[in-house]
Amino acid sequence: MHSYSLTAPAKINLYLEIIGDRPDGFHELVMILQSIELADRLDIQPSDTQNIYVYCEHPQVPTDETNLAYRAARLMCDVFGDAYANYGGVSIRIEKNIPVAAGLAGGSSNAAAVLVGIDLMWKLGLTQPELQDLAAKLGSDIPFCLAGGTAIATGRGEKLAPIEDLDNIWLVLAKHDNISVSTPWAYQTYRQQYSDSYVRDVTSINNRNAQVHSSPLVKAIAHKNKVEIGKLIRNDLEKVVLPRYPQVAALKSAFATQDILGTMMSGSGPTVFALCESEAKAIATRRQVKNQLQDPHLNFWVTKLATSGIQILATN
Ligand code: C5P
Repeated sequence: MHSYSLTAPAKINLYLEIIGDRPDGFHELVMILQSIELADRLDIQPSDTQNIYVYCEHPQVPTDETNLAYRAARLMCDVFGDAYANYGGVSIRIEKNIPVAAGLAGGSSNAAAVLVGIDLMWKLGLTQPELQDLAAKLGSDIPFCLAGGTAIATGRGEKLAPIEDLDNIWLVLAKHDNISVSTPWAYQTYRQQYSDSYVRDVTSINNRNAQVHSSPLVKAIAHKNKVEIGKLIRNDLEKVVLPRYPQVAALKSAFATQDILGTMMSGSGPTVFALCESEAKAIATRRQVKNQLQDPHLNFWVTKLATSGIQILATN
């Protein structure tokens, strides 16, 4: 049996609109999701026992069943019982480069890589829709992380419509290591404050989805109009997260004073990104904002938009 090394990229939300409540307790969303080059590396190999092992040196990454990568392996063992009985357990080593609990889908992307790695290792020959169905059982962002690129996500976030891939835009990410935002808290607080404006019937939900498909932002993406993209990005969760975490609001304001295309919080935060025309502008923006805020808890990354999700780095 072979072992696989995979790259698992992070994502940002170029657009996150909360449309309403769902019967399953989640929110009905329309998002535009975008892969970025900042990525973890996962090495997936057979373990000598029937157990699943997760190894990661990052102190904030759990190695037990609370890790989404572990849960992805567990799901594969449960669904493909014959292969599991035949081949035994799985050992997963994670090299963590994506900031943890950041709104960048790092854990989701790791889980997506585990699904792909085990599919290859056990020669299951799963199709992309089959992998996406498994991914959706684990979390709303995970189906997107499989194929990556640029996509409109609806429903819980698991229904995907790929659109023109974007690249050639640089970005600076910044995250406070002393702030963590609970995603359930962010959505619940949004519900408490804004459920009056929620759309409730299927026709209205479909209309909102259709409007986003033909929206100025999707057109700007199709035309690779970076300036328009920067102006049109949106994240509804900012409305609850920024007032509760003034440092995150201050970080966004600091980015907004720079020569950038646009700035926005990603997912439920606390990461804020700034889209930049070039690598040089991204590096200059990082330097200026770092100097302006002088916060030892603030970490920065310069990276680029990417056109793909999980990729195989090596087979052994
Ligand atoms: O699916 P995932 O594990 O990423 O979701 C984390 C939390 O975010 C959920 O438990 C829920 O509170 C909230 N959420 C939501 N509606 C969505 C996606 C996430 O309310 N569409």
